[in-house]
Amino acid sequence: MALVFILSGPNLGRLGSREPDIYGNTDYAGLEAKCKEQAHTLGLIPEVRQTDSESELIHWLHEAVDRGADVVLNPAAFTHYSYALRDACAMVTKSGSRLIEVHISNPHTREEFRHKSVVSGVATGVIAGFGVDSYLLAISQLAR
Ligand code: DQA
Repeated sequence: MALVFILSGPNLGRLGSREPDIYGNTDYAGLEAKCKEQAHTLGLIPEVRQTDSESELIHWLHEAVDRGADVVLNPAAFTHYSYALRDACAMVTKSGSRLIEVHISNPHTREEFRHKSVVSGVATGVIAGFGVDSYLLAISQLAR
């Protein structure tokens, strides 16, 4: 069975209470449960993690490379400026694993600084704007 890392960056642990008009009412525990259920249903082995730390997120991407895992990544605000995270994402896709960048909101409809992703250029694909379903769509795609 294929291993999939489902990683979320800073402030996503506050889902449910953080700007529900933008991010919805599902809390992080709910998101984690939905992702695990979806992955198990599709025959994937999920590793679901969230961190506020750029360094920890980068180390998890290194681990994904070492373990040959595909990745669903919501880089949160790091999306817009972290070249270190981009370089780690490039290691994933260059290793032959797939990396799908996901966003709960559609950043292109929001403030201008959110319109740029430094990650998209090294991602396999991007899914944004479908609420927490963005994660579930990405997991389904990895199972195809
Ligand atoms: C986000 C969009 C980012 O701009 C923001 O910084 C986030 C969440 C999303 O899932 O919509 O923290 O990645």
